[in-house]
Parts: sequence; structure tokens; C-alpha cells
Amino acid sequence: MIETVATTPFDDQKPGTSGLRKKVTRFQVPHYAANFIQAIFDAAKPDGGETLVIGGDGRFFNREVILTAIRMAAANGYGRVVVGRSGLLSTPAASNLIRKRRAAGGIILSASHNPGGPDGDFGIKYNIANGGPAPEKITEAIYRHSLAMTEFRIIAQTAPDISKLGETRLGDMVVEVVDPVADYASLMETLFDFGAIRELLASGFRIRFDAMHAVTGPYAKDILENRLGAPAGTVINGEPLEDFGGGHPDPNAVHAKALIDELMVKGGPDFGAASDGDGDRNLIVGRGVVVSPSDSLAVLAANAHLAPGYAGGIAGIARSMPTSQAADRVAQKRGLGMFETPTGWKFFGNLLDAGKVTICGEESAGTGSDHVREKDGLWAVLLWLNILAVRRESVADILSAHWAEFGRNYYQRHDYEEIDKEAAEGLMESLRDRLASMAGQRFGTLVVSEADDFSYRDPVDNSISTGQGVRIVFSGGSRIVFRLSGTGTHGATLRVYIERYEPDAARHGEAPQRALAELIQTADAIGEITKRTGRTAPDVVT
Ligand code: G1P
Ligand code: ZN
Repeated sequence: MIETVATTPFDDQKPGTSGLRKKVTRFQVPHYAANFIQAIFDAAKPDGGETLVIGGDGRFFNREVILTAIRMAAANGYGRVVVGRSGLLSTPAASNLIRKRRAAGGIILSASHNPGGPDGDFGIKYNIANGGPAPEKITEAIYRHSLAMTEFRIIAQTAPDISKLGETRLGDMVVEVVDPVADYASLMETLFDFGAIRELLASGFRIRFDAMHAVTGPYAKDILENRLGAPAGTVINGEPLEDFGGGHPDPNAVHAKALIDELMVKGGPDFGAASDGDGDRNLIVGRGVVVSPSDSLAVLAANAHLAPGYAGGIAGIARSMPTSQAADRVAQKRGLGMFETPTGWKFFGNLLDAGKVTICGEESAGTGSDHVREKDGLWAVLLWLNILAVRRESVADILSAHWAEFGRNYYQRHDYEEIDKEAAEGLMESLRDRLASMAGQRFGTLVVSEADDFSYRDPVDNSISTGQGVRIVFSGGSRIVFRLSGTGTHGATLRVYIERYEPDAARHGEAPQRALAELIQTADAIGEITKRTGRTAPDVVT
């Protein structure tokens, strides 16, 4: 029996960079999650009988919201829900299932790399039929529906047990519980030379993968240990936990420090990697060297043809605007199309669908290709391993050879977290006010050549996105970018992206902090960061 439950709207359900993210306690407010799910269905408008994929990263509250979403899908006209066993699906695996099962869309429950547990974060994201995050047109419609919400529909029966594989019925809808790993692992086998990687691993090449007690544990164990023959214990922290073991499932220098430290010592593993809460981000570490995500994107694009799935070459590359321009050098030299999009994977969807690009990436540890419509942590790890299996050089050697060929884009991102919202907005507003007069201004040895507030016209559907970050470019091509995070759940996070191109191979050995020193100072001078936020140093440097 379908019940119609009267409700009142919440005014804070506007999706951000990647879906709706809030504190768990907010999502626990009665009707909060149900209202948002109804808003998704109202915007998606199923005609009846469609398939919907549902899964999440296993964080606290995942199961409750999944059971609600299943019961609401049955009351909103869906014919079938495909759900990962125990509610688990990594974000790229969910994207793959949506495509493979020709679903109308999917609901992904995750707050990515944000901490979990009762005091942590939660999130709900809607993906469309191409497997990718809903574009702004749809997220805006979801928001509009949420503001006018008066009732939601839910089936009275309880949802079936989702810990058991197989099909059951709920009203007129079929609930199909699937193995979260199988289809994804098969897809990886079509893209990469598993035989070559197996040989590399058998030759004594040692790898370590930190799943950070998040969703990739079962995926990494099946692919790296079972299918590729890496020794048991290669995958550490492989058990998904509701609170990620109390840590931040964020594969960066702060939260994956133990893994990085292991790779920095003589006799440590040859290759280390980690992924985040929902499995779409990646960290790549070689012995003695951490590969910055922007460099990783460039190296993967330059070497993708060494993997069978990309043997025919790649169509083009896309990166988010704040991501370093290292990939642009590859595109230029190889005659490939290059696209610069706003932050967030949703902007890559049209370019991938239109076949304009094959590989995409963001500085925030996201890399992926046209095999799904999300960034994909394990995919990046496997492409690196495939390249290493063919080239038989160390990660450090591959990186320095890359810089020698293309030049090095020194790069850092400085995050100022949980700063006062008004101070952050004032800082951005002041920058915007000064944009018109900035060109020609001198800061130390740096002269501003152009400054703008990034806006993007999608080359496929011509939609326009404005206010995507303040860019200040200096003669010589160095850049500083300022933008506010769209994924935080408390206060504001200011991100400052700093980049300098160095063509001279003799100067490729400097520490980024040193190579970027003058730009870092200039960022504070131009942005008035200390003056406006009271902060003298960033909380996280990546
Ligand atoms: C952050 C990253 C961005 C990424 C997003 C979702 O968004 O910067 O590249 O797409 O998380 O993983 P932000 O908090 O900067 O809005
Ligand atoms: Zn993520």
C-alpha cells in the first residue's frame, strides 16, 4: 500500500559541488532525507517501470536511508531497484551499474572523504542515466522541488533484507540485491592487461593499498589480491566501517600519512595507493615520491595507450579549472583536444558522452575516463600499474622523465578550513571587485597579465556556469586561483591554488613550497587572507 505522508519543506537542501552534504544529525531530522529523495524523484519524473540503482559508501546512516529510498522508489513508479549487497557500492561501481543496467538513474549515499559516524557527515547524490552526477539543470530542479515539498510517497511494507543476494518484490517493484564488486571488477579486466600486471607483481614489485576502512576494501582485495595475485595483506584497512575507524577517509598527505611514510623509506614497497570513502579518489605514491594529482593526470594521459583499453589513443583531456596545466602540455604536444571545466565531475559528463575527451581529472585526487561517468580511484591505480608493468621503471623515474619531456608545473593547493562564512564571502567579493583593475599590477617580480571570475560555456549543450573561481594569471603563465568549497558542512573553506611552470629540467628537483614561495606570499597579499580570516597558515596543503 502506498502512503502519502504530509511534510513541510526544508530550506537548506540545495545540492553543492557533489550532491547534498550535511551533518548526520541534520539528515536524522524526521522527514529530512525523505523530503530530499522525493525532490529527486519529482525532478527525475519516472514514467513508470524504470530501473534505479542505489548504493553507498557504508557510512553511518547508510542502511536507514537506503531502506527508505527503496520504499519510496516503490511508491514513485520505479519498476526495479538494483542495490549493492548491504547497501554498499563505490561511486564508480554505481556509475557502471547505472550504465550497464540501462537504469534511469541512481542514488548514491556518500559524503566522500568527509568523516563518518554519528557526529560525522552524510550525503545524497543523484546520478542520471549516463551514470554521471546530475547536471546543474537537474540539481536546481531538485532544489526547487525541495522548497515546495508538501508530501512524500512511501510504500507501507518494510524493505527486504539487503544483506542477501537475489530478487524480491516490494509492491509492484523488484528489489535486486547484487554483488557490489563483480561487474566493476569485470569492467577493469576489459581495460587493463591483468596478465602483465600479474607478472609485474610476481617479479617482486611490491605494492600497498590503503582502503582507509572505506568502501574500496572489498574491491581492492578482489582485484589486487585475488585477481592480480598480490600477497594477502597488500590491502590494509580493508574492512569498511561505519565510522571509517574514526579517521578521515581522505587519501592525502595528512590522512594517509602512515602509507606515505612507509613508501619514503629504503626497502619500502615500490608503489602505494589509497582511495577515499566512496572510492572515487586516489592517492599515488612511488618509493620516495608522492605524485601530485595534477601530475598523475598528465602522466596517465601521456601513457594511457600502454593499456589495452586505450591502445587506440585518447580523444582528448579535460581538467577542472583549478587543476594544474600539466595535462595541457601533454594535449598540446600530442595534438589532443583540451577542455577546462568548473570544479566538480558533473561538468565532464557531456564531454565524455560526446566523445570529445577520454580522460578527465581534478587536482583533488580525482582521475577517470570514459569507462564510467565518475572519477575512479581503483581505475587510476590499475592504469598506473599497467603503465609500470609495461615500462618497468620506477614511479620516480617515470615522473622525472615526464617533467623532462613536458616541463614541470609546480603546484600546491592551500585549504583554510572552517573559517567564518562572512569573512570568506567578503574575501571573494573584494577580489571580484578588484578584478577589472588588476591587470598590469606588480607584486614583487610578478606582473598580473589577466584576472577574471571563471565562467564556462558547455560546448555540448551551451549551458553557462558563472562564478566558478577567481583566476589571477601572471606574465609567464603562473597562476593563483581562489574559490570557496562547495562540499563543506561547517563554516566556509577557502581554497587557494598556486601554480608555476618550470621548463628547465635542471630546476625540477626543488620542493614545491620553495619553488612557489613568491606566489604563496603574493596570494596572501592579493587575497588579504590573514587580514580577513585571521589565519596565518593553511590547515592543509596538498
Ligand atoms: C571538492 C573538490 C572537487 C571535487 C569535489 C567532490 O569540491 O575540490 O574537485 O569534485 O570535492 O569530490 P569543493 O569542496 O572544492 O567544492
Ligand atoms: Zn569521493
